[in-house]
Amino acid sequence: MAKQKQKINKRLIVVSNRLPVVIDKENDQWRIQPGSGGLVTALNPILKENESLWIGWPGTGKEAPIQELLDQFGSEQGYKLVGVPLNQQEIERYYWGFSNGTLWPLLHDLLGYCKFDLEDWQTYVAVNKKFAEAITKQTRENDIIWIHDYQLSMVGHFLKKLGVQLPLAYFHHIPFPSLDLLRRLPWKMEYTKALLAFDLLGFQTLRDRRNFVSTVTNLIPEASILRRQRNYTLVKYKKRIIQVGHFPISIDFNEFNNAAHSQEVQDAAWYLHENLHERQLILGIDRLDYTKGIPERFLAYELALEKYPELKQKISLLQVVVPSRTLDPDYQNLKEQLDQIVGRINSRFGNAGWIPIHYVFRSLDNTQLVAHYRTSEIALITPLRDGMNLVAKEYCACSVENNGVLILSEFAGAADQLGEKALLVNPYDIEKTADTIYRAFTMPLEERQQRMQWLRNQVQKNDVHRWLRYFVRTLDKVNSTTDFSPK
Ligand code: UDP
Ligand code: G6P
Repeated sequence: MAKQKQKINKRLIVVSNRLPVVIDKENDQWRIQPGSGGLVTALNPILKENESLWIGWPGTGKEAPIQELLDQFGSEQGYKLVGVPLNQQEIERYYWGFSNGTLWPLLHDLLGYCKFDLEDWQTYVAVNKKFAEAITKQTRENDIIWIHDYQLSMVGHFLKKLGVQLPLAYFHHIPFPSLDLLRRLPWKMEYTKALLAFDLLGFQTLRDRRNFVSTVTNLIPEASILRRQRNYTLVKYKKRIIQVGHFPISIDFNEFNNAAHSQEVQDAAWYLHENLHERQLILGIDRLDYTKGIPERFLAYELALEKYPELKQKISLLQVVVPSRTLDPDYQNLKEQLDQIVGRINSRFGNAGWIPIHYVFRSLDNTQLVAHYRTSEIALITPLRDGMNLVAKEYCACSVENNGVLILSEFAGAADQLGEKALLVNPYDIEKTADTIYRAFTMPLEERQQRMQWLRNQVQKNDVHRWLRYFVRTLDKVNSTTDFSPK
């Protein structure tokens, strides 16, 4: 049965730091390609189906014919793109500095990676204002303005200051930490108050929502809880009512499921497995990121080979790492660390007929991506912390033979929905993760099928179209509960 898709009767303005594209030069020719990451995967189908505009940073400097490339990409996708160019100082301090050097690790509970720098913070504030100004040039009556992710948490505050009367929505794609962690941020008050300028705030999980509400009520004495329901909390702040909900993001199940059934993918999947004959394939797919727990995963795999020698020759780990933020020294160190661990494990256990870890550092095209999902008997998804992790959901949607086993970190947002039938692990617990790899390897077919059927149903029921319907419906209600009178 065809799944109901969301049509919105208003124009949707989506704003994210990065546009869903990568602009670069090949053989002296500018080219534009789709970007990667969970935010892009989730939003792209929705923008294609509605009258939409996507505003964001094109990720490149003035030297490229940016608007021409964006128009070309937009006409292929069926929506309009508008670039907000950033200068070198803004890229340094707003993007690399405060967004990726402070907020990203802090909000993923990885305090050790955090850098706190006043000028980074000031530039972050200034760039958020710049985005708000760019948005006001595009808006018209009745638009839905929907800001995405941690890089743009202050845009709502500046839009309100600029007099925008439309209800403002924000979705936070990454985790929101406990108050104890957020208190480390020198600008926690400004940051938290700015978020309260939005009328609807969406988080991935109930835990994120609770962390946010408890941060607000503890830090800001003028804020109070008006009502707490199963799906949302109403916060009162300066005569306004702010709705805070949790909306676990998802994927277009049908798109992945159909692709996995296509002949092209079946051929690619067959070829992939034929090359690695008579073994179970364990799959890892991640952006290069220290939040993804890739070194810990390799160590657990190594321990599994050590503890359970019967696994040797019988399994291979396919690890795809998609290049990301490679100019950041922390990411460069991670890349080196991965190269070293893979080299060590392969030389320790490998032989002429068997490579324990097939490691590739590049992105995959769609056919290859889906073929990897379809053909792998086990997925090993072990982030130290993750807002959702769409790879976990994509794996289920593509496991069309119903026999894949999903091993999933309990610290991924996806564990809230998939935890009942996935094998949950604590990625810091190398010993138990190794045991879980063995458990997945030896799991009887009947149990695999019964678990995967449940997981697939779960992802199918809660797909990205349902996520959008639910978010937009909530936003419509917010419209009538919020007092927009001047403060
Ligand atoms: N992905 C991609 N290119 C690849 C491999 C993966 O675009 O070569 C996509 C993948 O399909 C998924 C997204 O990147 O939709 C990763 O999203 P996830 O939520 O797992 O993590 P994030 O990258 O957002 O931290
Ligand atoms: C994650 C974040 C996104 C981000 C993406 C890629 O998915 O939630 O906001 O765009 O990673 O990272 P980048 O820094 O390259 O935009």
